[in-house]
Amino acid sequence: MAISTPKIIGNSKILLVTKARAKKVARSDLSVLITGESGTGKELFARFIHDNSPRARKPFVAINCAAIPEGLLESSLFGHTKGAFTGADAKKDGIFVQANGGTLFLDEIGDMPFSLQAKILRVLQEGVIQPVGSRTEEKVDVRIVSATHRDLIEMAKAKEFREDLIYRLEGFSLHLPALHDRGHDIVTLARTFLKSRKEFSNKSLSRDAHALLMAYSWPGNIRELQNVILAAAVEAPMTVGGRHLRPHMKGNMTKPANTETSIEDRLLASMENKGRMTLAQLRANFSEPRSTLHRHLMKMSRDGTVQRITYGITVWFTTDNNQHITPPTTLSDRQTQALKIAKATGRITRKQFAEAIGISISTAGRELAGLIERGMLVPDGRSGKWSGYILPSL
Ligand SMILES: Nc1ncnc2c1ncn2[C@@H]1O[C@H](COP(=O)(O)OP(=O)(O)OP(=O)(O)O)[C@@H](O)[C@H]1O
Ligand SMILES: [Mg+2]
Repeated sequence: MAISTPKIIGNSKILLVTKARAKKVARSDLSVLITGESGTGKELFARFIHDNSPRARKPFVAINCAAIPEGLLESSLFGHTKGAFTGADAKKDGIFVQANGGTLFLDEIGDMPFSLQAKILRVLQEGVIQPVGSRTEEKVDVRIVSATHRDLIEMAKAKEFREDLIYRLEGFSLHLPALHDRGHDIVTLARTFLKSRKEFSNKSLSRDAHALLMAYSWPGNIRELQNVILAAAVEAPMTVGGRHLRPHMKGNMTKPANTETSIEDRLLASMENKGRMTLAQLRANFSEPRSTLHRHLMKMSRDGTVQRITYGITVWFTTDNNQHITPPTTLSDRQTQALKIAKATGRITRKQFAEAIGISISTAGRELAGLIERGMLVPDGRSGKWSGYILPSL
């Protein structure tokens, strides 16, 4: 079994059923037609079928019929003899020969030129190919798995696709569900894509990112999810929030996502802005009661969305993983003393501090301001000459 094949991720019922069908058909030698919207994993499933088939140790060769110019496609598929056309100075094997014994994945089979469809039919019916320029046919043993996002029946009605070829390709038909029908797989995939990149592997999803992922229609399916989540992660410091995802989502919502920014998202935005914040500092920016903020912060620190860093008597909240290696700038001796006084007496004023350690009131004011800036002291709410500072409560 090829070890390089990526795993098919997801546990939704619909995906598990699809995987089980793929596994069963893999053991047969039937040709398989895989259908599904763009980005649903058709190529991934083609490899999965090969890897689970008795041909697993033989080659798996994929060719995208839409990507090769019509003039080249025939010789790419079937090979050519020496001198078959200008520039053909040696005999060359085609893809059918390269895949001999194994599996050939014909991607975008709907784009196979009408003129070549008869030759493909011949391989499927007789197991023979005819290289360009050759008069004789060669035997090949190749299992065909094909895929398309086009409606071959409609194409057959419009005489763009041979009806008899459809039946040959579709020995078994495997339809891949769209991503928005795979429920929680969306979030599992998003997490896996983050984990798969070492630069994003420690990033998590906020609750409203989660809701948004589930509400979005995902017209580009898994490929789009991969692009959106990685682009969002570039701009998210530690937690990927709804605000990081939204700019990358170009399609529609399948249900109204709760677009109102949640309190946790607003808390995260504040922390991202400032690097780290104390509860007291956060309180100044929020109308919610302290207990509500505290409850959310504690929950977020438990589930790893934010970090709680204790430094001295101060507790910081941050979304930045690297904060623990850069502790807040150290305090002056005077500031340490100010904190001791505040702790012992419950509050501190500039005058009280100045007298206690014998410095001027303006110097005392400067030292205290440094502590206030760091959120280690907060105004006690009294004004003018009575104003003092207290330790932030947490
Ligand atoms: N269930 C899954 N688990 C993990 N990765 C997946 C899954 N499904 C798809 N992918 C990844 O998503 C990307 C798109 O998948 P793939 O190329 O197989 O889709 P496709 O249906 O062939 O798309 P298109 O129709 O655009 O060619 C690939 O990188 C693939 O590895
Ligand atoms: Mg594909």
